[in-house]
This record gives sequence, C-alpha cells and structure tokens, in this order.
Amino acid sequence: MSEYGSTADAPAGTTADAPPDAAGGTGEHHGAAIELENLTKRYPGSPQPAVDNVNMEIKAGEVVIFVGPSGCGKSTTLKMINRLIEPTGGRIRIGGEDVTDIDPVKLRRKVGYAIQSAGLFPHMTVAQNIALVPKMIGWPKARISDRVEELLDLVGLDPGEFHGRYPRQLSGGQQQRVGVARALAADPPVLLMDEPFGAVDPITRDHLQDELIRLQHELHKTIVFVTHDFDEAIKLGDRIAVLRERSHIAQFDTPEAILTNPADDFVSGFVGAGAALKRLNLTRVRDVEITDYPTVTVDDPLQEIFNRLRSSGTNEILLLDKRRRPYKWLRRGDLMRARGSLARAGTLVTDTVTRDATLRDALEAVLTDNAGRVVVTGRRGEYTGVVDMETLMNSVHELLEADRLEALEAQHDLEETRADLTHAEQEGDAGEKKA
Ligand SMILES: Nc1ncnc2c1ncn2[C@@H]1O[C@H](COP(=O)(O)OP(=O)(O)OP(=O)(O)O)[C@@H](O)[C@H]1O
Ligand SMILES: [Mg+2]
Repeated sequence: MSEYGSTADAPAGTTADAPPDAAGGTGEHHGAAIELENLTKRYPGSPQPAVDNVNMEIKAGEVVIFVGPSGCGKSTTLKMINRLIEPTGGRIRIGGEDVTDIDPVKLRRKVGYAIQSAGLFPHMTVAQNIALVPKMIGWPKARISDRVEELLDLVGLDPGEFHGRYPRQLSGGQQQRVGVARALAADPPVLLMDEPFGAVDPITRDHLQDELIRLQHELHKTIVFVTHDFDEAIKLGDRIAVLRERSHIAQFDTPEAILTNPADDFVSGFVGAGAALKRLNLTRVRDVEITDYPTVTVDDPLQEIFNRLRSSGTNEILLLDKRRRPYKWLRRGDLMRARGSLARAGTLVTDTVTRDATLRDALEAVLTDNAGRVVVTGRRGEYTGVVDMETLMNSVHELLEADRLEALEAQHDLEETRADLTHAEQEGDAGEKKA
C-alpha cells in the first residue's frame, strides 16, 4: 500500500527512485522510533538545566504529545530532537541511529518541523517555502515541483490557486497547512510540531486537528507534538507525556489512562475538571454508527425528489450539490411550497463533521442543530452519512458505564488485596502465638 493513500498516483517508492544519498535510504516512508537518553540542556548562565536528564522511548508511527506548564522545557526538548538546539548531555537515536553528532542538514531529511504561526518565509511563495528542504538536500527540479503539487493537494489546498501566493496572502489556517506541507516535504519519518495550531481561531484549529488525524492515517509518521491544550492532547495523542519543570516526566501514558488514573495531583491539575466529558474526545465519529439517509441531488427533477421523500418514510431528505456535498435539508412542507423551484426551499446545512471528528465535536454540532442530527462528510466534503442524537447519547452512556465498571473493578481488587493482607497478618500473628 502506498503511504500517500488517495494520492496513490505518486511513485510508490519516492525515496527509492532518488539517488541513493538523496533521501537517506529506504524504509523512511513510515515513522521511525525516537529514543531520548539522559537528554539534558543547560543554557549558558542559567543555574538550573532547562531540560534535565530526560529518558523517553517513542515508538515508530506513534503520536506523542508533550503537555506541561509554560517554561517547563517542552520546546527545548523538541528542538533537541532535530538539533535546532544542541544538547549539553545525553543521546538521541532515531530509527536506531545515533543522531546526536550527525550533520544537521542530514537530520533535516529525517525530521520535519512545523511551528506556531507556520514560520513561513514572507518573501518566498508557497511553493518556494515548501521546496526548501528538498532543495537543500539536492533533489532534482522536476521532482521538487511534483512534490510541491502533491503536498498542496495532501493538505487540502488547490495547487493551481495557492502555488504562487505569498504567505501574507493566506489566512492563518492556510498558512498553517503550508507549514505542515513544508515539514512533510522530504517525506521524513519524524515530524516535530511545536504548538502548530496555537495561533488560529478555535474552529480552524478543530479543522486542522481533524486534517492532521486524517494525514496521519495515510502517512504513519512518528509525530511529537507540543501543546498547552489538554483537550488537543487527548484528541491527537496516542500517548501523552505530562511534563513538569525541567521536562521531568510526571506521567507518560495513553489519554485513557491519564484521564481515568492520573499519577498525582500535578497531573490531575493538568487534566482539569470534567474528565467524564473529556472522555468524549477519545471516541471518533467513525467509531459510532453512521446511518445512511435518503438523499437527492440538485440535478434530480422535482418530481423525483417528491417520490423519493414519499417512499423514504422519513420526514425530510438531504439535498446534495453537484459534487455530492450536503446542501440543504428538505422537509415535506418545504417541497409543497417550492412551486417548481428549490432555490428558496429548505434549510441550509451549516455544520458538518468528518469521520475523524470527536464525539464531542459531533455532540456540539447536534446540540446546536434543533433537528438533532449532523451530516458526516468525506475528505472532499462529500456526503457519507448522518449521526443523530440518539446514537450519540447511547455512545456517551456506554462510555460512562464502562468507566463506572472499571472503577468498581479497581475498587473491588483493592479491597480484595487489603482483605488478603489482613488475613495474612492475622495468620502470621496466630502462627507466632502458637510458636
Ligand atoms: N535561549 C535560551 N537561553 C536561556 N534560557 C532559555 C533559552 N530558551 C529557553 N530558555 C529557558 O529554558 C526554559 C524552558 O524553555 P522552553 O522554551 O523549552 O519552555 P516551554 O515548555 O516550551 O514553554 P512555553 O510553553 O512557554 O513555550 C525556560 O525557563 C526558558 O526561560
Ligand atoms: Mg514552547
């Protein structure tokens, strides 16, 4: 299978086709494991190290999120992985290779880097920004331009439209997409992201998060991602490292484990209130039942729309546009009043979710829509189904019930252990008395 997923027309072995030294060998399409061993950074003149003896193993293809208070050393730790900051002690291994002392230019092939506000060069076009690393490592021109087009498509920007624009001619969200494209340019196995979505509005951030999840489904990179936002960490992370001062690891575990079993008060403080609701961030729309709904398109004759609605047994029908994207909800009454034209009939579809959206996103969409359902769309915005309130409520109920059972079991185990201990103590006492 190609790692490019739907853009499978890209040469399957992009790096294999290149000169042997242009991409650092094969097997880099997917992620590579990262090992940090006693990693330490002392900034000159600071009495305390900013990062103190960090040991961490990140698996190939895993998304690991660093969260922690401001100044705790998240960025410093991240930047040591691609040696934007030189460590003062310890080792870094990527895919088993010790990269602590290799040429940083060579490292750029292995590690892509995306930051807050995209960090694009303002005097370069979108295409030139994306081409930066491939150019630096000497890819031929034709290959670079193919790659730029492919990446723009991958991050959901029309290559024809955006190729020649300058960063100031893009919205914040678009800049951020270009930043991600640039980080992915040389197809590195490792992607580092430092609060990449910190500077955009909440709705754009939500979309960028969903896109990153979709991308990761196709690319399987190893991603280390820094954020302040614990909800973002839950949504994106396979595992979360909660860091305290000097990058000391307070807890490094799955979102589920951290939510249900925080290691200490520091971690619970970070998890914050509403852990039950946060569980909603752990389940995706694709994990619940997406039902099919009767649909028609704007090209269908009105009579057929009538017939379809009548035979559907539902009270309304979903009208799709020419590209099969959800357009309007049509009720029986709307059609009665339509008088030969659908131009003004029905209610516009305002909010949709993708299969990668969390149940929390879906619930929010459903709650703001008084008909109690939301349309699920595919990669290009096309209709794929509908999720309704009832499905969501059932899923939430199941989640909470599962949590409750788990807590009960844990309590039961604890009580049993205590009983055994007491029993053993009494036996011990009895034994001593007998002796
Ligand atoms: N170039 C530098 N020189 C000296 N001290 C630095 C330098 N860069 C960072 N520090 C210090 O190192 C510590 C860790 O900084 P770092 O940027 O890694 O924190 P952070 O966790 O990313 O914080 P934030 O969430 O605010 O981005 C801080 O105390 C900071 O003041
Ligand atoms: Mg930082």
